Amino acid sequence: MYRCATFVLFLALGIAFQLSHGTEVNVTDKDNNLCLYANLMVNFSVSYKVADNKSATAEFELPANVASDGSTCDATSSVLKLTFGEGHSWSVNFTRSEKTYQADNITFSYNLSDTTVFPNSTSNDTTTVTVLTHITPVGVDTCYSCKSKDTFEADLVNQTLWDVLIQAFVSNNSTSENITSCAADVPTTPVAPTTPVAPTTRAPNTTTAEPVTNSTSTAPPPPPTTPTPTLPAPTTGQYIFKPDGNSTACLMADFGLRIGIKKEEMNFEPNGTTVTGKCEVNSSELVLTSNTVTITLTFVNETKTFRLHALNVTGKTSSGVMFSEANTNLSLWQAAVGSSYMCNKEQNYTITSMLTLYTFDLRVQPFGVKKGVFSTAEECFLDSDLSFLVPIAVGVALSFLIILVLISYLIGRRKSRTGYQSV
Ligand SMILES: *[C@@H]1O[C@H](CO)[C@@H](O)[C@H](O)[C@H]1NC(C)=O
Ligand SMILES: *[C@@H]1O[C@H](CO)[C@@H](O)[C@H](O)[C@H]1NC(C)=O
Ligand SMILES: *[C@@H]1O[C@H](CO)[C@@H](O)[C@H](O)[C@H]1NC(C)=O
Ligand SMILES: *[C@@H]1O[C@H](CO)[C@@H](O)[C@H](O)[C@H]1NC(C)=O
Ligand SMILES: *[C@@H]1O[C@H](CO)[C@@H](O)[C@H](O)[C@H]1NC(C)=O
Ligand SMILES: *[C@@H]1O[C@H](CO)[C@@H](O)[C@H](O)[C@H]1NC(C)=O
Ligand SMILES: *[C@@H]1O[C@H](CO)[C@@H](O)[C@H](O)[C@H]1NC(C)=O
Ligand SMILES: *[C@@H]1O[C@H](CO)[C@@H](O)[C@H](O)[C@H]1NC(C)=O
Ligand SMILES: *[C@@H]1O[C@H](CO)[C@@H](O)[C@H](O)[C@H]1NC(C)=O
Ligand SMILES: *[C@@H]1O[C@H](CO)[C@@H](O)[C@H](O)[C@H]1NC(C)=O
Ligand SMILES: *[C@@H]1O[C@H](CO)[C@@H](O)[C@H](O)[C@H]1NC(C)=O
Ligand SMILES: *[C@@H]1O[C@H](CO)[C@@H](O)[C@H](O)[C@H]1NC(C)=O
Repeated sequence: MYRCATFVLFLALGIAFQLSHGTEVNVTDKDNNLCLYANLMVNFSVSYKVADNKSATAEFELPANVASDGSTCDATSSVLKLTFGEGHSWSVNFTRSEKTYQADNITFSYNLSDTTVFPNSTSNDTTTVTVLTHITPVGVDTCYSCKSKDTFEADLVNQTLWDVLIQAFVSNNSTSENITSCAADVPTTPVAPTTPVAPTTRAPNTTTAEPVTNSTSTAPPPPPTTPTPTLPAPTTGQYIFKPDGNSTACLMADFGLRIGIKKEEMNFEPNGTTVTGKCEVNSSELVLTSNTVTITLTFVNETKTFRLHALNVTGKTSSGVMFSEANTNLSLWQAAVGSSYMCNKEQNYTITSMLTLYTFDLRVQPFGVKKGVFSTAEECFLDSDLSFLVPIAVGVALSFLIILVLISYLIGRRKSRTGYQSV
């Protein structure tokens, strides 16, 4: 809990050996006060082109010796910018609200003309990738700590962060004693879904969870992301997958899809989307590839019931940020094999802490498609609408009443008759 402080203490004592082999930087503001502290390890894996249209992979670490002069501190936004080697840089932007701060996206630029890192590269360009971080809001005046590995994947670059200790918006010229640990470091904490899901579906397991703040009263729970529904309803796409050399479909899905990444939302465009997949006895897969997004839906067939088991969404938001989110422990869209699952009402599903999926006019059949048409549908609860239950309830109540009246009438008649006879 006092790791940040212990660390600074060690350094203050002038102990020569390095406590951690990470990259440490202090960023100071114009008054020479510490305003941003970082100690972290980053591993890069970069795929790049070499001769003959082949590609090679360069793997390297963020060196301990970095320059941080590009970093800036401001009252509400800070940038940690580390430059190293021959023109490479790694930067994180932090923004601050009243009680929390957060890291928005990580930008990594690498210079392919650096032959020590990228031998035989055919390009001399400097390439930049931006990824969204998984770091959820951290209480102001606390250190963010994450010893666990956290990997960010983009097209050609994987970045793995670990042993991370960061504090942005440092006050009083020293790092805080109080630590906000990432969820991966605190595995016993139960994970609560942030958005309610349809009653017929089980809450999906979130793969990344919010960090748990310890010993701080200052850090409020991270604010829930409230997406603003300003987009028009997405176009409903009809996706049909036919296995190679077969003219009949084995998997069919119709839906309109909206993707929420952090606070950004976008509609999935069916026009121009290619459909691939596979159909096996106990699992089937639908892969939708549009210009900007690739969605992989994996269905399983267990005990004559199918469900959406895994979902993987990778792509680029309209602001150009790469993302890659997956959950392989879902139980959505359940129905009996041989039927289809249908949900016309808009639904939203929290897939990971970063990714929310909205479906419209959903109908899907991943197994047992016959003659290229959907089989009978099992509808989701919301479609069946509560109002539809009301007439039934009234009807049932009325019948009860009638039966009751009838019984009491019959009993009454019998009683009065017996009474009559006894006289
Ligand atoms: C960061 O600041 C601490 C305390 O002020 C100091 O001991 C340490 O050497 C600094 N680290 C770097 C890399 O400048
Ligand atoms: C903040 O701390 C550093 C190192 O501990 C020191 O050099 C610097 O003068 C301090 N700044 C102020 C404004 O006291
Ligand atoms: C990034 O990681 C994924 C999944 O582990 C892997 O398939 C891909 O090849 C990696 N890319 C690079 C450039 O290392
Ligand atoms: C970070 O902030 C700087 C300056 O505020 C801005 O120029 C840059 O585009 C930002 N980068 C990201 C990834 O947001
Ligand atoms: C670079 O190319 C040369 C000749 O084409 C080859 O001998 C060498 O092994 C290559 N280096 C690497 C790291 O691939
Ligand atoms: C890269 O730069 C080097 C030196 O500036 C030059 O010799 C080489 O031709 C350039 N290669 C490409 C592909 O532009
Ligand atoms: C979440 O995942 C864990 C282990 O991966 C599993 O035991 C648990 O049943 C899952 N819960 C839900 C709601 O899927
Ligand atoms: C949280 O704080 C309690 C007591 O304040 C301590 O026992 C526990 O180890 C702390 N947990 C973490 C993850 O720091
Ligand atoms: C850190 O935690 C201690 C004990 O919980 C508390 O008294 C103190 O105010 C906290 N400091 C900050 C900067 O939040
Ligand atoms: C085409 O698919 C149907 C059902 O999915 C199967 O019965 C049939 O054998 C397949 N035909 C070919 C040529 O693969
Ligand atoms: C789909 O896109 C093509 C080319 O971009 C366009 O010509 C066509 O009108 C579009 N179709 C629909 C239904 O929007
Ligand atoms: C980085 O994130 C911020 C806030 O989420 C966003 O406004 C900005 O456009 C992003 N920068 C880039 C280069 O995508």
